[in-house]
Amino acid sequence: MNAGILGLGRYLPDKIVTNADLEKIMDTSDEWIRTRTGIEERRIANDDIDTSDMAYEAAKAALKNAEISAEEIDLILVATVTPDQSFPSVACMIQEKLGAMKAAAMDVSAACAGFMYAMITAQQFIQSGAYKHVLIVGVEKLSKVTNWEDRNTAVLFGDGAGAAVLGPVSDGKGVLSFELGADGTGGKHLLQEGDFIHMNGREVFKFAVRQMGESSLGVLDKAGLTKEDVDLLVPHQANIRIMEASRERLGLPLEKMTKTVHKYGNTSSASIPMALVEEMEAGRIKDNDLIVMVGFGGGLTWGAIALRWGK
Ligand code: UT7
Repeated sequence: MNAGILGLGRYLPDKIVTNADLEKIMDTSDEWIRTRTGIEERRIANDDIDTSDMAYEAAKAALKNAEISAEEIDLILVATVTPDQSFPSVACMIQEKLGAMKAAAMDVSAACAGFMYAMITAQQFIQSGAYKHVLIVGVEKLSKVTNWEDRNTAVLFGDGAGAAVLGPVSDGKGVLSFELGADGTGGKHLLQEGDFIHMNGREVFKFAVRQMGESSLGVLDKAGLTKEDVDLLVPHQANIRIMEASRERLGLPLEKMTKTVHKYGNTSSASIPMALVEEMEAGRIKDNDLIVMVGFGGGLTWGAIALRWGK
């Protein structure tokens, strides 16, 4: 049984924080942020909106888009490193809100690669025939673990949520191949210590450029495809320079790579599903398109998926 995406949804906080806003509260500049990261603005959730609220809104939108009711969901997986609390999980919280009472529910912790991990976990359950419909959400309220006095990290992140309903699709469609990986020896380069995120930007940058390229080529190879077959590259939206390096490694023209980092910053596990929604809403994804998604993050973790769009 092949597993594919039946529907997508997202939630974006209303509040926009621009680089000019950040210039007022820390020693940084719009010019530095734009040229080093490609980020122009990001969304920040209000205090009364927590991770589960954003996850719920994105999940509701994905169910509607998939035309699947909450009662038909067998499993809920929420990829997040910023849950409301350690337990109950965000997945259990949205199970109640959605009324998805038949569903098993758990959170997945793989940082920015979390949505890739959740999608492949879902795919395995569907492929085996154990479950039919799996709801996956990538959601982060990174603003609550951001040290607003640390310009090395504060300018990079944003809040948001993206969700997908996965289910059986016809032969040749859906997930064609995947690669997931981890390297705990690099955990020290990107972590939450105490209340805040700490990062060795240069080390993460080097790892990301290498891994994004290798994993993208790896999934194409596993699927028996080549760079020329790719219709759309959806990289984790962390930094435009890292994204560009992946695009160049695949030899793709500009228009074949999704770019949302300028508007939303790095939203960790939410970045790939939010980017997919953006492409879907713009009408840029067509039936049978070959999409390569690739992410990397704290852990260190990484993941890539080659997916043939359509049901
Ligand atoms: O989802 C995964 C999350 N993490 C990532 O994706 C991060 C990957 N790494 C990066 O994106 C880049 O390394 C950064 C954007 C974080 C930094 O860019 P860089 O080109 O590697 O800069 P750098 O760390 O080498 O810093 C260059 C300079 C430093 O000044 P000195 O020491 O050369 O005088 C920093 O202090 O830029 C300074 N700097 C800033 N200046 C203005 C660092 N942050 C800022 C800032 N505004 N916000």
